[in-house]
Amino acid sequence: MMIGMTYFLKLTAFVAATAFVVEGQSETHTVTFQNLCSTGVPTLKTYNGEILSTGPAYTSNGSLIAAIAYLDVGCGAKGEGCTLIETTLVNPASPGTGSSTDINLIPPHSFSVPSGFWYYNGCDGHGANCTDADCPSAFHSSTEGGVGIVCLAENVNLAITFCN
Ligand SMILES: *[C@@H]1O[C@H](CO)[C@@H](O)[C@H](O)[C@H]1NC(C)=O
Ligand SMILES: *[C@@H]1O[C@H](CO)[C@@H](O)[C@H](O)[C@H]1NC(C)=O
Repeated sequence: MMIGMTYFLKLTAFVAATAFVVEGQSETHTVTFQNLCSTGVPTLKTYNGEILSTGPAYTSNGSLIAAIAYLDVGCGAKGEGCTLIETTLVNPASPGTGSSTDINLIPPHSFSVPSGFWYYNGCDGHGANCTDADCPSAFHSSTEGGVGIVCLAENVNLAITFCN
């Protein structure tokens, strides 16, 4: 009888814990920085310029839409004059949607430091590096068109490196 009741309680606790975990599996995305330059402040902002991180890993609750990242070595408030990484991390709700990340050297942005990124927790290793002002992996003019590196995995994370 006692054993039966203990088992029942444990089972109930287990079911409750499982339900909590499943419910807690909402969308999240983490952006991490690795700065191998001997200078600068890794910076992650919303497109409107709100600071999300100046170095530590940033985890979004839900999607992260149109964020910008750069190594602040005296850049403008939106990364002007610097190598800019643009990213949207979002779980694909329908075909043709999902995460996309690119490197932007379109004026007023310009090459400052080697910058690169790759996805993890999905699309592992997919990304791009830009090591000089003529790097083919970056956008250089707004007439170029094209898209960034796309990832259709859910809850994908992004690693950004400088001077790698
Ligand atoms: C995440 O966002 C959801 C929906 O807005 C909210 O219910 C939840 O409390 C948030 N969680 C955290 C940890 O901020
Ligand atoms: C970017 O550079 C890193 C470090 O050298 C390398 O591991 C990675 O494979 C490169 N990514 C691409 C897409 O070339």
